Amino acid sequence: MNENDITVNLASTSKIDSVDFENLIFGTVFTDHMLICDYKQGVWEKPVIKPYEPFLIDPSAKVFHYGQAIFEGMKAYKDEHDDVWLFRPDQNFERFNKSAVRLAMPEVPESVFMDGLKKLLQIEKAWVKTGKGNSLYIRPFMIATGPGVVAAPANFYRFMIILSPAKSYYSGEVKVIIAEHYSRAANGGIGAAKAAGNYSAQFYPTKLANEMGYQQIIWTDDATHTKLEEAGTMNVFFRINDTLYTAPTSERILDGVTRKSLIDMAKREGINVEVRSVLVDELIQAAEDGSLKEIFGAGTAAVVNPIVGFSYKEKYYELPKLENPIALQLKEKLNNIQYKLAEDTFGWTVKV
Ligand code: COI
Repeated sequence: MNENDITVNLASTSKIDSVDFENLIFGTVFTDHMLICDYKQGVWEKPVIKPYEPFLIDPSAKVFHYGQAIFEGMKAYKDEHDDVWLFRPDQNFERFNKSAVRLAMPEVPESVFMDGLKKLLQIEKAWVKTGKGNSLYIRPFMIATGPGVVAAPANFYRFMIILSPAKSYYSGEVKVIIAEHYSRAANGGIGAAKAAGNYSAQFYPTKLANEMGYQQIIWTDDATHTKLEEAGTMNVFFRINDTLYTAPTSERILDGVTRKSLIDMAKREGINVEVRSVLVDELIQAAEDGSLKEIFGAGTAAVVNPIVGFSYKEKYYELPKLENPIALQLKEKLNNIQYKLAEDTFGWTVKV
């Protein structure tokens, strides 16, 4: 299949002129079109690009009852020549199908995912604004549309791509709390999949954290709550003295595309990076003796997000305010690659 095998029904009008691109709230505005591809009893149908609108779904669809739903997060960037670029889309495609397998859903063909995405982006090119900080957030997702409340995988699925113009994910300072009781994931579970349920499971503990003034939780391992893992919307890096530490990916931790890109970039910059579990005790010790310099999150939506402080066992630890933090150095280098302002020596960018 190629882009020509996609049915395209264009919207008669565009809402783009009514959008305030300077004051976007993440994930609240969507472009004029969406892609839909249905899977029926073992066969993927022809993808359709059509105007963005609600659709009908049977109330007994398994997505509602058993949470068979997965997604990806990607971004498109525009360079100074008005060309649109994707960042490592192969990684998102691979991870999407790994998530599909884990949730007993059908794998999406590469042609549907990639050609469909490129065609949709060509149609929505005007929604990708130039300038660092502007991007078009891409949300590919799949839900089980098959009806019936029997607790078994569905026979019918819908793969979709929707697009949302974006600026930053977090609008202010990010403070985190370290998990002592709740868990995001467990060995043998679905923590490494980008499954909808991994996010809804965090909503209640995150709501409690928000009420205490923290934007995010840094999850710890479910068995002992002693190892620092990820922050749910982002992977996490810790800088102790001049070494960056981040937890290894596992059954409990998402294999983040930004995470692995930062590891490669930092290593190339000559920064010492250690991929290993950091213990909560080690972090407290480093905060107390002054060797903890930075904590930052890394993710597609959040990009690279410095964390200003953390709380553990009701004690708050403030991080030092550095002049030239590694987090912002890496963010700048990453953005320069994504916006084609620097040579992409890694070969990560793909033209749409
Ligand atoms: C992303 O960074 O793309 C994610 O999927 C995180 C989501 C909570 C916005």
